[in-house]
Amino acid sequence: MKIVSFGTRPDEAPYLTEWSERTGIELKQITATLNEDNVDQAAGYDGITCMQTVPYSAALFQKMADLGIKFLSIRNVGLDNIDMAGAKAAGVRISNVPAYSPEAIAEFAVTMTMHLIRNMGQVEQHLRENDYNGAMHYIGRNVGDCTVGVIGTGRIGRAAIQIFEGFGAKVLGYDPYPAKNTDIDYVDLDTLLRESDIIDLHVPGLPSNTHMIDAAAFDKMKDRVIIVNTARGNLIDTQALLDNLRSGKVAGAGIDTFEYEEQDLLNLEQHGSFNDPVWDEMMQMPNVVLSPHIAYYTETAVRNMVEFSLANLMGFLEKGAAENEVTK
Ligand code: NAD
Ligand code: COI
Repeated sequence: MKIVSFGTRPDEAPYLTEWSERTGIELKQITATLNEDNVDQAAGYDGITCMQTVPYSAALFQKMADLGIKFLSIRNVGLDNIDMAGAKAAGVRISNVPAYSPEAIAEFAVTMTMHLIRNMGQVEQHLRENDYNGAMHYIGRNVGDCTVGVIGTGRIGRAAIQIFEGFGAKVLGYDPYPAKNTDIDYVDLDTLLRESDIIDLHVPGLPSNTHMIDAAAFDKMKDRVIIVNTARGNLIDTQALLDNLRSGKVAGAGIDTFEYEEQDLLNLEQHGSFNDPVWDEMMQMPNVVLSPHIAYYTETAVRNMVEFSLANLMGFLEKGAAENEVTK
């Protein structure tokens, strides 16, 4: 049996090597992200493990099928960049890793919130300009005195709720499929938008969720609201966010998943820069904290992504079934 890993980063490589040595299964490591032009490098292998934010197209799945490869095991959670219909048509079965460390992403969302609520960007900006005095005039708020609205109360949302409750915050949850057996205080979306000082997004980037936070949603929010998105870029209408940052209605925004991330990441490989005026304007705003889709990025998460993804692939190859096969 032979496995190939695409999109292999240096921090993942030791875990892949260690797994291969432990199991005695041949595992080729390729750094390039998988696409229809380089999938030929998987010829002769039985399955692919992969990690990327750029699309997996129908053409890619057809080429996999032509090479006789039936299994793709992704190392991450989100499925929004996978053409599932294309995979199904080609007979390629997919698995993901739904829970490699929900806490890692939740902690990152809270980190962004803490940075914003204590105005760290503004403080830092003054200090970098040697304006010690100016840096002293940004009064913060205690998270424990705030109402936090968590949209999406799945694995990551619930981990975030636990942390925010640890600060003593009042937490409101919104989810069309409320979690069972929890004491989450569920409200409708409008109530959450109206009553929250901090809004934290943890919903999948399904097309139906695109721009769930649009201009009308911002209108409903409290003045000085803080909004954090570590879920998917399409959830927020970024132009509406920018308008509300400019007007001061939004006091701070934390964006790990940027709306134009996909095309920008592709541009990054080509041009070495984002070339995005919206990103550039937000980069200049001290009350915005941006990060390049790294909320997940902890040692625990990376190790689990590799281990769990390989376990799924072995499930497909040895038993015909993976624990985390994606069926819709
Ligand atoms: P999950 O499936 O456990 O939970 C998602 C929850 O969102 C579900 O309870 C679902 O009912 C709910 N939901 C769906 N649409 C909704 C809507 N319109 N309004 C409110 N709730 C809605 O998923 P999870 O593990 O908590 O992950 C959530 C998302 O986080 C993933 O889909 C992925 O996009 C993102 N993510 C980001 C990173 C990162 O590094 N930035 C890492 C992992 C996951
Ligand atoms: C996910 O697991 O869905 C993420 O967003 C992490 C990223 C490395 C793709």
